[in-house]
Amino acid sequence: MSGASDLKGKVVLVTGGSRGIGAAVTRRFAALGCRVVIGYRSGHEAAEALARELAGADGACIAVQADVADPEAVTALVARTVEAFGGLDILVNCAALGHYRPLGKMDAEFIRSILDTNVMGVVLMTEAALPHLPSPGGRIINFASALAYRPIPTSSVYSASKAAVITLTHAFAKELGPRGITVNAVAPGVIETDMTAKIIEERGPQILAMTPLGRIGQTEDVAGIITFLASSDAGWITGRTIIADGGVT
Ligand SMILES: NC(=O)c1ccc[n+]([C@@H]2O[C@H](COP(=O)([O-])OP(=O)(O)OC[C@H]3O[C@@H](n4cnc5c(N)ncnc54)[C@H](OP(=O)(O)O)[C@@H]3O)[C@@H](O)[C@H]2O)c1
Repeated sequence: MSGASDLKGKVVLVTGGSRGIGAAVTRRFAALGCRVVIGYRSGHEAAEALARELAGADGACIAVQADVADPEAVTALVARTVEAFGGLDILVNCAALGHYRPLGKMDAEFIRSILDTNVMGVVLMTEAALPHLPSPGGRIINFASALAYRPIPTSSVYSASKAAVITLTHAFAKELGPRGITVNAVAPGVIETDMTAKIIEERGPQILAMTPLGRIGQTEDVAGIITFLASSDAGWITGRTIIADGGVT
């Protein structure tokens, strides 16, 4: 058996799995027969509703509240995953804050909130998951952004946080290669979610004009890349960031 079909029964933890791209990723893994933990920070209703919808008769999907920037919460999230499903095979670090501000409008609290969630969160989650990931065979998949390669005005700190994710992905892949654990990332362009509602409203026609594939990206455009990277077919890929932006970059 090869490809996504070999994911049946695997335990997957998706941070930020309650909404947007993370929810599409969660749905895709659940459809492949995985047992999925949805990590979320504040959107209790959305997370619980999705978990109920996907749980099935055997309760194979649960939602767990945890701020990825809080070391104790991260430890508890991974512990709850292992307690519920007996292990952890695949970690998807999708949670992030997508806030933009121009120079002159940034303060330490703003900068810290983005770096804590988007960068430290990835490190803390990786540290916590590592003792449980199968070796060989474990998978870590991170979310970068095409804005790491081509920042736009006001996106500086967010873009830099995603550049850090690309470097963490590369460095962790080197560190974990000898253990047979792959670490990869996806760098989406604009995908229609809550995070981008304002940008699409303000710059929709401009985004369309610069996108060779001529439409706005949808969450489903990214979900299959994540399940591919989690599958055995991607076993010889590590340290890579795949740009998925309809050809813009
Ligand atoms: N949408 C795009 O165009 C785009 C483009 C490039 C990259 N990305 C990346 O793709 C990923 C998903 O983006 P999205 O657009 O789907 O985002 P979204 O719709 O804004 O959803 C963000 C998710 O992350 C969770 N989250 C935020 N901060 C958290 C924290 N500190 N701890 C735990 N969970 C937290 C949210 O949970 P709560 O709702 O419960 O707080 C929510 O589930 C992000 O990494 C983003 O940077 C998105």
